[in-house]
Amino acid sequence: MQKGLPVQKRTCYCGELTKKNVGEKVTLKGWAAKNRDLGGVLFIDLRDRTGVVQLIVNESSDPQMFKLAEGIRSEFVIGVYGEVKQRAVETVNKNISTGEIEVIVSDIVIYSKAQTPPFYIEEGIDTNELVRLKYRYLDLRRPDMQRNIMLRHKACKLVRDYLDKHGFYEIETPMLIKSTPEGARDYLVPSRIHNGSFYALPQSPQLYKQLLMVSGMDKYFQIARCFRDEDLRADRQPEFTQIDLEMSFIDMDDIISINEGMMTELFKNTIGVEVETPFMRMTYKEAMDRYGSDKPDTRFGLELIDLTDVLKGCGFKVFADAIASGGSVRAINAKASAEKFSRRDLDSLVDYVKTYNAKGLAWIIVTQEELKSPIAKFLTQEELKAIIKTTEAQEGDVLLFVADKNQIVFDSLGNLRLEIARRLNLIDNNKFNFLWVTDFPLLEFDNEKNKYVAIHHPFTSPKDEDIKLLDSNPLDVRAKAYDIILNGTELGGGSIRIYDSGLQSKMFSSLGFSEQEANTRFGFLLNAFKYGTPPHGGMAYGLDRLIMLLTGSSSIRDVMAFPKVQNASEPMSNAPDIVDKKQLMELGIKLIQTELTDN
Ligand code: AMO
Ligand code: AMP
Repeated sequence: MQKGLPVQKRTCYCGELTKKNVGEKVTLKGWAAKNRDLGGVLFIDLRDRTGVVQLIVNESSDPQMFKLAEGIRSEFVIGVYGEVKQRAVETVNKNISTGEIEVIVSDIVIYSKAQTPPFYIEEGIDTNELVRLKYRYLDLRRPDMQRNIMLRHKACKLVRDYLDKHGFYEIETPMLIKSTPEGARDYLVPSRIHNGSFYALPQSPQLYKQLLMVSGMDKYFQIARCFRDEDLRADRQPEFTQIDLEMSFIDMDDIISINEGMMTELFKNTIGVEVETPFMRMTYKEAMDRYGSDKPDTRFGLELIDLTDVLKGCGFKVFADAIASGGSVRAINAKASAEKFSRRDLDSLVDYVKTYNAKGLAWIIVTQEELKSPIAKFLTQEELKAIIKTTEAQEGDVLLFVADKNQIVFDSLGNLRLEIARRLNLIDNNKFNFLWVTDFPLLEFDNEKNKYVAIHHPFTSPKDEDIKLLDSNPLDVRAKAYDIILNGTELGGGSIRIYDSGLQSKMFSSLGFSEQEANTRFGFLLNAFKYGTPPHGGMAYGLDRLIMLLTGSSSIRDVMAFPKVQNASEPMSNAPDIVDKKQLMELGIKLIQTELTDN
């Protein structure tokens, strides 16, 4: 099958060739992508991870080689030796970097044949994702996936270099650990040696990185794999990666500044985007009031407007009742959208907010003659005037209102804001709006558990001035916690930690932990803290989310080599899967379901 073995070591990658190489003899290796036979001349596209180059095989120059080349099909792996020639002007392909040249082949070797792949190995295919994931090794051959994986590699390298330059040590922490209190469900690993006992896979290296501060490592980072058994979404995987860092003797501003520097370098050196520093900062309260979200997309307006004061005791019972029972009425002014929204569109927006538990969505269309609205008749002229004034409404605007408990108002209008921006095309995809959200509440009340729980984690420090509220108004206590948001996605988050044992005990008692419970769960950390703890704090980024945004992907699955699907399985290898009875026996595990089917 092979004609000699003339093709020696590769001299360069396909995508690297340009006009500069004209006249050079090159050896290339890769996958054959296309094969056109124009009678005596074969055109083959040769692809490797850098791109594609056109090969020309002439029958007249070597009939035997030509015969071999004729048998080459898509995805055959071949090597060629040939000369780089400039293409004739009329055959230049401006769409590819190698479009000005071609390689006139004088020798070919076929390394391996290939079956017809289940989908085209090319950019932007619309193949079902399950099929792509089942044949992920082929999917990863496609140029867009190659680019994503390359950029991910480059980003990790830049992060490592940046943090090294700033004095961070990269330290690995264990994967088989005692459960960490991060709030999601743990993945458990049964112990063979300690039958009946389980390791947990880390939800994050949180406790270990704090221990490393006690150890005097001063500045730690890790590109760390984390495991959380939670419901999956486009930006959530059961197994994902964090850029995790922790520093000693610092405050929030130090963390913010080191991270702004890292993001600036990263964006410049991966996608050539200059991001402006300092990043915008906003307290949690301001973010909720203005955007109804703790991760607002600030690339467009449509901010929430509070009409509670204006509509207190108004004639529309729905509004008045919501306010009377402690809730609020807020609105969005969809500027100049009256022409764009039909009645049907408005009805669909009503349905949309209902998915966020709003009971309805009232609207007012401002026209030159009147205020068109199903609720206008319930409101006085003064109330309507006050609404128009507060919302700064003008002719052509559409006002959209939700009245309810604050949480529902924020959730429904916060999401409606995004939906309207999508429908009206208000989002500039070339913008990268970073934002720090600070001063998160320290605690929330968990109705199921009937007690307060830490929003971040139990080691996050309250703000000094709010410590006094821990007993009297726990929900008003703000934390030294911060999130970094990019274009409405929570990229990362962190906090300044408690290092004072008195404050830590107080925090545990606010969380309803007895000393004994606290010791059972985090005893090793609390013990460590008795031996000299530096003030410290840190944060972690979702690396996958970061790469998703850098590459403009719509899902973190597109930036992970082998991700899992919605039901947490992996279609290619079929994990998770059943295991041998013998393996279970060794672990002391008996499956109830297996027993049932055995009987
Ligand atoms: P947190 O739980 O906020 O903080 O996680 C940090 C970041 O990790 C990303 N992330 C995820 N990405 C993909 N899939 C998931 N299932 C997933 N869950 C979280 C998010 C998130 O912002 N130890 C603390 C950090 C600290 O305090 O230093 C922590 O893990 O982008
Ligand atoms: P109804 O009184 O149910 O006919 O509602 C009159 C209008 O008010 C409709 O457009 C509803 O969608 C809207 N509406 C009902 N409940 C709410 C609410 N909680 N917040 C905002 N608008 C509402």
